[in-house]
Amino acid sequence: MSSTLLQSLTFFDLHPDAGDLREEVLAGLQRTPKSLPPKLFYDQTGSELFERITEQPEYYPTRTEIGVLEACGPEIARLAGDDCVLIEYGSGASRKIRILFDALSGRCRYVAIDISKQHLIESTAQLAAEYPGIEAFAVCADYTRPFELPAEALTAAGRRIVFFPGSTIGNFTPPEAGEFLSNTARQIGPGGGLLIGVDLKKDAATLDAAYNDSEGVTAQFNRNLLAHINRTLGADFEATSFRHRAFYNEAAGRIEMHLVSLRDQLVTVAGEPIHFREAESVHTENSYKFSIEEFQQLARDSGFRPEKAWTDDGNLFSVHYMTVADSVSG
Ligand code: SAH
Ligand code: AVI
Repeated sequence: MSSTLLQSLTFFDLHPDAGDLREEVLAGLQRTPKSLPPKLFYDQTGSELFERITEQPEYYPTRTEIGVLEACGPEIARLAGDDCVLIEYGSGASRKIRILFDALSGRCRYVAIDISKQHLIESTAQLAAEYPGIEAFAVCADYTRPFELPAEALTAAGRRIVFFPGSTIGNFTPPEAGEFLSNTARQIGPGGGLLIGVDLKKDAATLDAAYNDSEGVTAQFNRNLLAHINRTLGADFEATSFRHRAFYNEAAGRIEMHLVSLRDQLVTVAGEPIHFREAESVHTENSYKFSIEEFQQLARDSGFRPEKAWTDDGNLFSVHYMTVADSVSG
């Protein structure tokens, strides 16, 4: 682990790419049906494309969640209390945390965790410059694998609050989401809180449109995963030989994103030949949608006590505040 101090920002690189990414990618491409982990969307280009997705008129989650957070910010600040430590998973552009900083009047410490290194550094450096009174830590890590948060980032006495916005929890399968929540409950310990954004079940047309924007930005985001593999693992994918496909799988309660091979083709990935049949699909992402009650039950089963849930007037998106149930030991 290496650390660098930038103004009031300390950066820790836990080297999320150093592990067995090659094996993970090859295993995904050698199984039937083929699949790839969604964390591969997020290199610098992928992070920029995600930011563009959030600006598309069809992609309602970001602007809706921001509206909910702005409305409930002061209440959340009261629940969080003074001198809390805000730990954000998948912090991206660190945009939504500003709403909490403003509601808390700067009385907190911030730990941002993200896999997209350059984007993490740029976003948190900008944040640290805008909020010089907040002690900020940026941790480049893969939260789908076990890792320890640097002790320096956690020394403050206040309540630990995990912030997990964007409905990124929906990118886990339900068992993975349960495991993530259980680990989070253990990490923040008794008295800790979880503030989490969760996209709600709704009509398939609204969901389908959100993942098939008319400008084709989501399609570019999906295909960038192949370009990212080319750059990091050495592969010769022609991204334009794959078509973006996204649809709501109502029975499973999730949006599925796929890349569909436009022709019969052989691709070399990290030295291994991988064959794609014409019309063969690679499953790249799930985005599960929940009812309020379904999500609260998942959280209860994982050691949390639901305290409060807020939604927008259109019932598109929910924000939940939960505390660690007494039975979970820290
Ligand atoms: N929280 C932001 C960004 C959501 S996009 C928002 O609500 O708008 C998902 C974010 O999680 C991206 O910034 C991506 O880089 C990060 N991410 C995805 N998979 C990850 C993983 N396995 N480990 C760490 N960060 C990850
Ligand atoms: C980050 N995550 C919650 C987004 C989602 O909606 O599942 C990623 C995304 N995929 C396509 N568009 C946006």
